[in-house]
Amino acid sequence: MEKIKKIINKKDKSKIICLTAYSKNIAAVIDEFTDLILVGDSLGFALYGYNTTRKVTLKMMIEHAKSVRLGVVNSLLVVDMPYNTYRTKSEALKNCKKVIKETKCDAIKLEGGMKIVPIIKHLVENKIFVMGHLGILPQSVKGRFRFKGKKIRERTQMFKDAKGIEQAGVFSFVLEGVEKSLARLVTKNSNVPTIGIGASVHCDGQVLVTDDLLGLTQSKIKFVKEFTNIRKTIKEGVKKYRSEVIAKKFPNKKYSY
Ligand code: KIV
Repeated sequence: MEKIKKIINKKDKSKIICLTAYSKNIAAVIDEFTDLILVGDSLGFALYGYNTTRKVTLKMMIEHAKSVRLGVVNSLLVVDMPYNTYRTKSEALKNCKKVIKETKCDAIKLEGGMKIVPIIKHLVENKIFVMGHLGILPQSVKGRFRFKGKKIRERTQMFKDAKGIEQAGVFSFVLEGVEKSLARLVTKNSNVPTIGIGASVHCDGQVLVTDDLLGLTQSKIKFVKEFTNIRKTIKEGVKKYRSEVIAKKFPNKKYSY
């Protein structure tokens, strides 16, 4: 509860730093710099090479979240509920309880607006902390991802969705691929923090897929900035290893029994 409060209290004060993690080692490295770590179902793309997050299962999310839990001390740990695991109130409650029990995460995240308001309400009534997700909803997209907010209809719908999920009890929500003036307005009109990904500087916080930030995925998405190129570092290390093995320099006495 303290960590949730900390996130909410940052609204309009200081930026909320969020990143994804799929494993203990990455989580342990990023945890001191983040407020929130998300075990995102983007792992379907980034780790498993799927062309959709719809193939991600509850079992996969649980196993990755258990690993991430081992590396997280400071940040709020949120786990994405994958496709087809929250279609009804009872299905959602059963699956969210399972995720929380097995992974010891602090909260779960669901994709959707007005359509899932009854599900969010039911989870919140059952003392589950829920993060929302509006804008591009990868679990619902067939084909190309297209940013939201160009059409009046989309803008009106997003206002309704944002109010709906806020009133249902989300403590925060992600805005993915949202036009900047719309992201600013939604953020201004909401009482809970918005976390942007491809949704401008106007959101209360930012999230990126860590593998993209590190240059591991070589993403071509407009909103992704490679802050470093870990591929280079990996290549350098592997090259050194290879040449030392070939030259019989490794393992030397120091690394032998
Ligand atoms: O699955 C994910 O990683 C996400 C973020 C991109 C917000 O939902």
